[in-house]
Amino acid sequence: MKATRFLAAGLFVVGSVAYAADAADPTVKARQELMGVNITNVKILGDMAGGKTAFDATAAETAKAALVAASAEIGAKFETPAEDPKSKAKPEIWTNWDDFVAKAGALNKAATALDVTSAETIGAGMSAIGGACQSCHKAYQIPG
Ligand code: HEC
Repeated sequence: MKATRFLAAGLFVVGSVAYAADAADPTVKARQELMGVNITNVKILGDMAGGKTAFDATAAETAKAALVAASAEIGAKFETPAEDPKSKAKPEIWTNWDDFVAKAGALNKAATALDVTSAETIGAGMSAIGGACQSCHKAYQIPG
């Protein structure tokens, strides 16, 4: 249980990435909103895994499905290299496109593999999901 709580705390750090989604450019706004879907559902699952909220099988299944769907949309939502002063996207996304898409695929794989039958199984799978978020952000998101 301690390990699970630690994991959930680590995810909270991932989750504390400023969630603004207030860019004026519609393409940028849409991709930031997609990331908002990611963080919302990671929080739902992380809170259950960490015992912050009660395990709810239906809510967990819904959050997992939302993550699987959102991660599958990352490529389409980032394909156009739109810019906005409020964007934190690094230009390397579009020069290393195959790698970016592979990192989105890694998140999709981790989300698909998530076992949502209990808080414990969610906890066990969340580090792979958090790691997939972080690995892409480290490479392609301007920090701060
Ligand atoms: C394939 C790369 C990639 C993956 C995987 C990824 N992100 Fe992101 N994320 C980005 C990029 C790039 C931005 C910056 C987008 C911008 O500002 O234009 C971003 C921005 C964000 C933001 C800030 C949104 C805003 O409104 O400014 C949050 C929150 C976020 N991501 C959460 C997550 C979570 C949680 C996960 C994992 C479940 C995740 N991301 C997975 C690339 C990724």
